[in-house]
Amino acid sequence: MAWNPDQYLKFSEPRLRPAVDLLARIDLTAPKRIYDLGCGAGNVTRLLAERWPAASITGVDDSAEMLAQAARALGSATWIRQSVADWAPTSPADLIFSNAALHWLPQHEQLFPRLLAQLAQGGVLAVQMPRNFAAPSHALIAETVRQGAWRSKLEHLLRPAPVAGPNDYYAMLEPLAKSIDIWETEYLQVLHGADPVKEWTKGTWLKQFLDELVEPERAEFEADYARRLRIAYPPLADGTTLFPFRRLFMVVRRA
Ligand SMILES: C[S@@+](CC[C@H](N)C(=O)[O-])C[C@H]1O[C@@H](n2cnc3c(N)ncnc32)[C@H](O)[C@@H]1O
Repeated sequence: MAWNPDQYLKFSEPRLRPAVDLLARIDLTAPKRIYDLGCGAGNVTRLLAERWPAASITGVDDSAEMLAQAARALGSATWIRQSVADWAPTSPADLIFSNAALHWLPQHEQLFPRLLAQLAQGGVLAVQMPRNFAAPSHALIAETVRQGAWRSKLEHLLRPAPVAGPNDYYAMLEPLAKSIDIWETEYLQVLHGADPVKEWTKGTWLKQFLDELVEPERAEFEADYARRLRIAYPPLADGTTLFPFRRLFMVVRRA
């Protein structure tokens, strides 16, 4: 999927908050080698560089658009265009960090233990992923797909929720871990403007569906989805829209 950094960063403040919350739980004084997997436009990589200025920091992402923006945001980091599925560090990492990216990859029961194994002893894997796939914001994408003329073009993109439950990640990682801290937070996001939940998902999950359509069908799909969203997330009297969003966090130290 081709990413659009401008659409993604329309909500940069609420998107940054979970990364800051994750960062606050990482108990490392002076990691030497840090990797930011699915680094996107580099706005979170910049926070890693601010916290550990002496570290060598590498951002990995498979989107040329996102990496171009990242290189402008932070000149001091190294940027690698590669899929996380194929990535391995040249020498063991002290911190593997990933904010809002690993839900794009399949087979977590293999991926997560493999990432933990890429750490030096005592190194930390710190991950945040959305776990909002059962909420109307995402369920209504599937409903819109199935109830429109576009169904045959889009249905192949529907798949089970990509993020497992906290207990599942505990079971995957506990055999390799010295300590595991897993938690979930549901943020009550306060959004403004017209159809803000659609604008939110348009920067991420919705885009893969829109990319399959051409006008005027694309606009019709968007309008149909927006109509459903306005019922699920009705704007308040002052025009703001409340959008609860659940996220899963983990900070795992390698044994
Ligand atoms: C929602 S953005 C998050 C960006 C950044 N971590 C942040 O917090 O702002 C997800 C990023 O994951 C990247 N991504 C998705 N699948 C990937 C893969 N298989 N390998 C590398 N990057 C991937 C996308 O290109 C995108 O930049």
